[in-house]
Amino acid sequence: MLDLLIQNATLPDGRAGVTVAVRDGKIVEVTAGLDALAHEVIDAHGRLLSPPFVDAHFHLDAALSYGLPRVNQSGTLLEGIAVWGELKPLLTQEALIERALTYCDWAVAKGLLAIRTHVDVCDERLLAVEALLEVKRRVAPYLDLQLVAFPQDGVLRGPLGPDQHMDNLKRALAMGVDVVGGIPHFERTYEEGSRSIKLLCELAAEQGKPVDMHCDESDDPLSRHVETLAYETQRLGLHGRVTGSHLTSMHSMDNYYVSKLLPLMAEAQLHVVANPLINITLQGRHDTYPKRRGMTRVPELLAAGINVAFGHDCVLDPWYSLGSGDMLEVAHMGLHVAQMTSQQGMRQCFDAVTTNAAKVMHLQGYGLEVGCDASFVLLQARDPIEAIRLRANRLKVWRKGKLLAETAEVVAKLHVAGRPNAVGFLQP
Ligand code: FE2
Repeated sequence: MLDLLIQNATLPDGRAGVTVAVRDGKIVEVTAGLDALAHEVIDAHGRLLSPPFVDAHFHLDAALSYGLPRVNQSGTLLEGIAVWGELKPLLTQEALIERALTYCDWAVAKGLLAIRTHVDVCDERLLAVEALLEVKRRVAPYLDLQLVAFPQDGVLRGPLGPDQHMDNLKRALAMGVDVVGGIPHFERTYEEGSRSIKLLCELAAEQGKPVDMHCDESDDPLSRHVETLAYETQRLGLHGRVTGSHLTSMHSMDNYYVSKLLPLMAEAQLHVVANPLINITLQGRHDTYPKRRGMTRVPELLAAGINVAFGHDCVLDPWYSLGSGDMLEVAHMGLHVAQMTSQQGMRQCFDAVTTNAAKVMHLQGYGLEVGCDASFVLLQARDPIEAIRLRANRLKVWRKGKLLAETAEVVAKLHVAGRPNAVGFLQP
């Protein structure tokens, strides 16, 4: 007998009236109109059944710390880094773990079941690394957490000196951190930025680790570190294992140069993560008017065959005062900032917070095919575009066949004479 049978579901690729059958935590059948015995049968009523949301770029060590020790008044990236610097010596492992676990609760309720989080390694104690490794262990039964060793202060520029920072990175990897991070545009000079990429990619190649760098998170059109990242990826044979996060300077680059850059990125099989909520908030801060949007060139990257995901980056921390772990809010902002308003463009924005992000993280068993993990979200929407438009309610969230979260259907009652008694916000 099956464990779970979900009938009359619509899938993100448009297939309707689909039944998904689950046994032992795996999808064993995906077909139209199957009827079979199961311990639990759910009628999806034509609603969208999606693989879980995936956040390929986050900072769980800073999440939910908004206001500690003070609020970022200017709202800029640099004041955010300063506030984080003030908070770091005051952090305790217990508080960090508690905030991170609370955020993971929010994530699960929103159907967000995999997160790649950067963790600051510019602290000799590696307190945040220890805390997030503990969180990773505790949430493992219900959420995939992947850690990136992130030298926030610059591996060469940071106050501890290059040797100590490299040592911290290696210690973090030895403790179980999964990915090598970096921040080349924050190093002292362009040459130092390039040198940091070479050093960090060589470390990743030596240790067989993937790379995910904060790269060119700047409005400076001459911040071209992604070119070096693509070069080192290709030189070291790291194809498909390297991610450039943010890449906001591409927004301001010369078009001719970008026409040379895109094929180099495609050749190296780089992954790209844009962070729409943060990019639209932090970039263009030195502009008067017109103000640049500052998100990387998402449609052009996709057209060049490059995998692009959207990340949340921050929730209630020194850089961003809002957020709730809702990847549909991220997709909604990405769609607007990139003007991806065609049917294809809107669907690509949904992919950016699901399948594309899963590719960045190299998640195993992800998807709605036979043999994949029975992990999915039933949304109060009929297709991916409606899901983004409504930032749709997550009716049910399963992982490996186990129900993790439920939210009651949202219905607004209307008390207006002569009109319907409820509003569902569906197109007539
Ligand atoms: Fe980030």
